[in-house]
Amino acid sequence: MEYGPAPESAEFVDAWLEKHGRRFGHFINGRFVEGGSTFEVINPATKATIANVSQGSSAEIDQAVQAAAAAFENWRTLSGHQRARYLYAIARQIQKHSRLFAVLETIDNGKPIRETRDIDIPLVARHFYHHAGWAQLASEVFEQYGPLGVCGQIIPWNFPLLMLAWKVAPALAAGNTVVLKPAEFTPLTALLFAEITQQIGLPSGVFNLVTGDGRTGEALIEHPGVAKIAFTGSTEVGRIIRQKTAGSGKKLSLELGGKSPFIVFDDADLDSVVEGVVDAIWFNQGQVCCAGSRLLIQESIAKVMYAKLRQRMENLRVGNPLDKAIDIGAIVAPVQLQKIESLVQQGIKEGATCWQPGWAVPTDGLFYPPTLFTDVEPAGTLAQVEIFGPVLVAMTFRTPGEAVDLANNSPYGLAASLWTENVNLALDIAPKIKAGVVWVNCTNVFDAASGFGGYRESGFGREGGIEGMYEYLRPNWEQHLPEVDDPGFEPRAEPALNNAANAVSAENVVSVAIDRTPKLYIGGKQARPDSGYSYPAFDPAGKYRGEAGLGNRKDIRNAVEAAVKAGGWPNSTAHLRAQVLFYIAENLQVRAREFIDRLVGDCGYTIELAEREVTATIERTFYYAAWTDKYDGRVHSTPFRNVTLAMPEPWGVLGIVCPQGNPLLGFMSLVLPAIAMGNTVVTIPSARYPFAATDLYQVFDTSDLPGGVINIVTGNQLELAKVLAQHLEVAALWFFGSKSGSEMVERESAGNLKATWVTHGKARNWFAPEQSQGEEFLRHATQVKNIWVPYGE
Ligand code: NAI
Ligand code: MG
Repeated sequence: MEYGPAPESAEFVDAWLEKHGRRFGHFINGRFVEGGSTFEVINPATKATIANVSQGSSAEIDQAVQAAAAAFENWRTLSGHQRARYLYAIARQIQKHSRLFAVLETIDNGKPIRETRDIDIPLVARHFYHHAGWAQLASEVFEQYGPLGVCGQIIPWNFPLLMLAWKVAPALAAGNTVVLKPAEFTPLTALLFAEITQQIGLPSGVFNLVTGDGRTGEALIEHPGVAKIAFTGSTEVGRIIRQKTAGSGKKLSLELGGKSPFIVFDDADLDSVVEGVVDAIWFNQGQVCCAGSRLLIQESIAKVMYAKLRQRMENLRVGNPLDKAIDIGAIVAPVQLQKIESLVQQGIKEGATCWQPGWAVPTDGLFYPPTLFTDVEPAGTLAQVEIFGPVLVAMTFRTPGEAVDLANNSPYGLAASLWTENVNLALDIAPKIKAGVVWVNCTNVFDAASGFGGYRESGFGREGGIEGMYEYLRPNWEQHLPEVDDPGFEPRAEPALNNAANAVSAENVVSVAIDRTPKLYIGGKQARPDSGYSYPAFDPAGKYRGEAGLGNRKDIRNAVEAAVKAGGWPNSTAHLRAQVLFYIAENLQVRAREFIDRLVGDCGYTIELAEREVTATIERTFYYAAWTDKYDGRVHSTPFRNVTLAMPEPWGVLGIVCPQGNPLLGFMSLVLPAIAMGNTVVTIPSARYPFAATDLYQVFDTSDLPGGVINIVTGNQLELAKVLAQHLEVAALWFFGSKSGSEMVERESAGNLKATWVTHGKARNWFAPEQSQGEEFLRHATQVKNIWVPYGE
């Protein structure tokens, strides 16, 4: 049967564009302002110019940031209920204008009207509803938290209005103000959105919009008045942003690329699978960060599956995206089409088999046919590089274990989809996949109540859900922290073999005890530092206290390897981990006297102060033993027939650089939440007072702590932190130290985009519970994975 064309009318959109003379400036401080130079926005389905928009300059970014800063105080101090009313008004207004938004989005981006009408725009409204709710509840749920200030938000072209909603809604709900830069290919729905904020009377300056390309984005990132950057786009630009914002104190969330696996087991319902694949890779022409672009299929069903897929592909319709019967629309821009074409050519050159349907795509616009590659090498370009187009690459596996290995054989970790009728298998595989979202027997479903975001090089931070709100909040006490900015302590190397005697003069030596130079602690064993050197440590009065190992790059590598090998820890039961923590507390108590002496001697504490630190450390150990089996996930109520399980998962290997002061309590306050949540850690203790940490070896050894869960490398903190920051197997890094050290850690961690938590030289009070323990630590010790499990027939 032939379909007749059923085009959606573009009449309203034309009228709206004409009203603006098809020429747009920026939206700053509640009104549209003239821009400088302009560029053309095209309809990729026809290549026709739709409008001219302005290329924002740094001066215009500055105006927008200033407007947002000026609006912040009032917006922040409105009641949550008042902010909720504005967000609700936005949601309603979007619903009322949904047709205009949908058609405008389709004309600007090229995606089918069926998608903008049924998916993009309803999800946008849903996001504002959900966050109207968070605004209403903020003072109760986030009682100890407040907004950050001006948020700079940079979004891509693949879901222009939806990405705006994902960023603007939580920022405003939390009490922040916004400067948004939409993608240069698709700025129009953001401009319409600006008009909506005018219509509902959103206070001037709360939402500002500056259009332009990457240069405008750069100006926003570099502006000193911005407190947070939220970015969605390519991993390449995400990495640049990580480096450019390093040390600035700007909070950062990155939602980057992906190469998500779509795993099909032999017992899956293959007809559903075929429709799933259509949604996974041909939704939005495959220009989806979480597109199921790698089809991993169990070998026994591969032939049947390929045949079914090819048959389905023959029936897909590519063409005018305004046509309601079209499955696949246009590619957003010539450069993206060229990128797809060249990656496809590369794949063919590398020996993969390319299959496309028998029909040709229209030539009057930027169209590309659905494409299937088989015989793909797992290490080849097609399997590793994000294509961001309607190109599916297929590979086969034999066993579930092989499927997991293949799935995780990617630097990315945004999403995964798995298909099987066996719920045991699904729930066994889901936690093993390194991805922020796992869809069981479904794909590309989203909801505001469920956080979205990546593992690994797909970025960090979440959008949606409660975890998305925390990206726009900070603890209220944080801004009152004193800036101590301890420059750290530069250990001086001494040959380990003839240490104390020639390192310091004899009269400085307190007593002639049996000489003991603690080694490093790696894989549950004491290990001599690779350098063969140690360094002397002194009390605050300059008295010699002993020698600590001078760790180097090699020692950190060994420690990371040991931490990777201790992979049983994350999979152990919370009950087992809790028991180990309780046992550590018990053994600390047994040795309390030694630790008190240690702190008095090393740090010059009074006995009372030392006792207080040891007692607090024991209590803190109980505290995290208590949390170990209680920091549960959530089950979200998403508007589909499914349960969405939000599970906090450990990072894997977590690096921890400890504060100089409170060498016992500071060390344990960081290590305990990390291991309680199932991470294995490589720690760099206080360089000035290293022995409180090295004395812990014997506590750990007698507490059933498996080797490799806690590794300790003493030495120059900055040097060692840099190695940790650059190490690709370290997934997250905490740095509780100087401003310059924080800058270095953020910059050097850009390689694998590890999640960092740095203190910029601000000192916490390790005795004050709100600053030194609690959910903030557990949240930083985990990342949330959302597993969608549908129910019903
Ligand atoms: P991009 O990362 O360059 O652009 C995303 C946004 O960042 C745009 O608003 C752009 O103007 C802005 N931008 C670019 N350079 C910037 C800079 N130096 N500083 C600040 N902002 C900057 O992505 P592009 O060039 O549009 O697409 C390239 C590839 O990136 C695609 O082929 C695709 O593979 C991937 N991509 C991934 C997306 C995702 O959702 N994960 C979205 C868009 C693209
Ligand atoms: Mg670009």
